[in-house]
Amino acid sequence: MKLESSRLLLKPPSTEDADSIVAVASDWRVAETTLVPHPYAASDALTWIRNARDSWNEFGMGGFAIFTRHGQAFIGAIGLRPTGIPDHASTGYWFCPSVWGRGFATEALREVIRYGFDACKLARIEANHLIANPASGRVMEKVGMGHAIHVDLPERDGHGLVPGITRYIYPAEWEALKTAA
Ligand SMILES: CC(C)(COP(=O)(O)OP(=O)(O)OC[C@H]1O[C@@H](n2cnc3c(N)ncnc32)[C@H](O)[C@@H]1OP(=O)(O)O)[C@@H](O)C(=O)NCCC(=O)NCCS
Repeated sequence: MKLESSRLLLKPPSTEDADSIVAVASDWRVAETTLVPHPYAASDALTWIRNARDSWNEFGMGGFAIFTRHGQAFIGAIGLRPTGIPDHASTGYWFCPSVWGRGFATEALREVIRYGFDACKLARIEANHLIANPASGRVMEKVGMGHAIHVDLPERDGHGLVPGITRYIYPAEWEALKTAA
C-alpha cells in the first residue's frame, strides 16, 4: 500500500526506517503536542512499526511513514485507525520541525482522507488536537474537517486532561470538496 501526492510518498513503515523515525520523533517539538513517547528510543520506533503492520493486516488501514518523493527523505508519520465505532476512523500525524510550514501535513492528511473514504469506505474520519496546537487545527480545517467539538484530551504525562478539539468530516462533504476543486 502506497499513497502518492505531488510531493510526498506515504507507505507503511518498515524496520529499515527505524533510525530515521527515532531521529525525528525524539525531538521535543514533535512530542510536546502529541502522545509520542519522550525520550524516544529505538524500541519505541519498533513498537510503532509493529503496531502499524498489525493494524494494516487486521483493518486494511494503519500507520504510514512519509517521505519526500524527490530525495526520499523521511519527514514524518501519519496514521489512520478504527475508533471502535463501525466505519469510523481517527487520524494523527507528526512532522520533522525542519519541514514545518511548507504544507506537507495538509498534503499528507488530504491523501489519507482520500484513502479512508475512497478505498476503506469510511463513514467518518476524525482527529484530535490540543487547543494549544492551533497549527494542527488549521491543517484539519484546510482539508475540510469542518465539524469541531471541544473535548478533554489526555495530558502527555498520563496524569490529567487538557483542553482539545475533535474535528471530523463525512464522505458527502469530502465529495462536495472534490467537486468544488
Ligand atoms: C502541526 C504540524 C503537523 C503542522 O505541520 P505543517 O507541515 O507545518 O503544516 P502545514 O504547513 O500543512 O499547515 C500549517 C498551517 O498552520 C498554520 N499555523 C502555523 N502556526 C500557527 C499558529 N500558531 N496558529 C494558527 N495557525 C498556525 C500555518 O500558517 C498553516 O496554515 P496556512 O497554510 O493557512 O498558512 C507540525 O507542526 C507538527 O508536526 N507538530 C508536532 C506534532 C503535532 O503537533 N502533530 C499534530 C498533533 S494533533
